[in-house]
Amino acid sequence: MSQSEFIVWQRNYSVDNKEIDSQHKELMNFVNDVIGHSTGDRKAEFDYFSLAIKPGINFLQKHFDTEQAVMLAQNYEGYQGHKTEHDKMIENLTRISDDILAGRQVLNLLEIALFIRDWFLNHIQEFDQKAKDCFKYS
Ligand SMILES: [Fe+2]
Ligand SMILES: [Fe+2]
Repeated sequence: MSQSEFIVWQRNYSVDNKEIDSQHKELMNFVNDVIGHSTGDRKAEFDYFSLAIKPGINFLQKHFDTEQAVMLAQNYEGYQGHKTEHDKMIENLTRISDDILAGRQVLNLLEIALFIRDWFLNHIQEFDQKAKDCFKYS
């Protein structure tokens, strides 16, 4: 890994909602932790992944549930499309994680870390920012 791969919080990531912003920061810490464990030591990476991935996916789902509850409560017109993005990410991560843990796929921790990072930053800037008007009044 190199220093430039880590996520640094930026003000324009904010959706003006304390709870959602703090979950985003926590998820960024998680992604940075995964990047930080990408050492190329296969055994250490696998041991780390086995422990960290389930809680990570669970927290991501909890975060998506938080956003979806706000969007539903505010009758947000983009709810369905936004939820579909969330569901697809959980499905992808769960499939990748199951395949790796079952030995059907070789773990490349840095690749997974950067996949989550890139999805997450794009999603915040595209979908979460679009929902900002509904998030900020909740
Ligand atoms: Fe989000
Ligand atoms: Fe979202």
